[in-house]
Amino acid sequence: MIAVDGPAASGKGTIARALAAHYNLPHMDTGALYRAAALNLWRWGGHPASEFEAVRACNDLGSNLEDPELRSEPVSKIASKISAYPEVREALIQRQRDFASQEGGAVLDGRDIGTVIAPGADAKLYVTASLEVRAQRRVRELLARGMPAHYDDVLLDLKARDERDMTRSAAPLARAADADLLDTSDLTVEEAVAEAIRLVEARIARTRRAEAT
Ligand code: CDP
Repeated sequence: MIAVDGPAASGKGTIARALAAHYNLPHMDTGALYRAAALNLWRWGGHPASEFEAVRACNDLGSNLEDPELRSEPVSKIASKISAYPEVREALIQRQRDFASQEGGAVLDGRDIGTVIAPGADAKLYVTASLEVRAQRRVRELLARGMPAHYDDVLLDLKARDERDMTRSAAPLARAADADLLDTSDLTVEEAVAEAIRLVEARIARTRRAEAT
């Protein structure tokens, strides 16, 4: 089982999907769960300041998980806010743990996979990139999806989201002590994926050597 964590727009989703394809494993984008709950709340006109309403929004995520609105900026902002609630995290944890522990393995990406969801993962990556590079990537991603995006706004929004994700008390974004760091700032997608595979291979080889002695 492979855990991939990191801040917004760091490339963790792309890397996790590529690892899943390489090792022929199922992949879960755990951010999509928080986003799907945020989309429920947004559609109901519910308030992100209410933990009670946010927890209710965690039911019936089904069709939301494929909704293009999932990646819109209002939904991203609400997702980042409600993901700080312990009861929201609790409502979504079992689904992630079940996926992580399925026979044959899995790849999950998110913020707390290596620290909370699957601390015993076979390999853990903490994917990061500079704030400026991440903002450029997110602008390109939003424009490609036909959504409006302005560099300065996106940069400020990412900064605010990182701050919230890293400072919340429930499962904050953090590099697990045994996670390998992968900075993708100066790497192409192909280079980042190759490096991710190299790190996973090296980690598994180290574990095998340790088990053999
Ligand atoms: O794609 P991006 O990195 O911008 O976001 P995402 O991974 O889809 O996550 C959306 C939001 O959900 C983040 O801002 C986090 O606050 C939250 N999240 C979380 O708290 N824990 C996770 N395992 C995944 C996402």
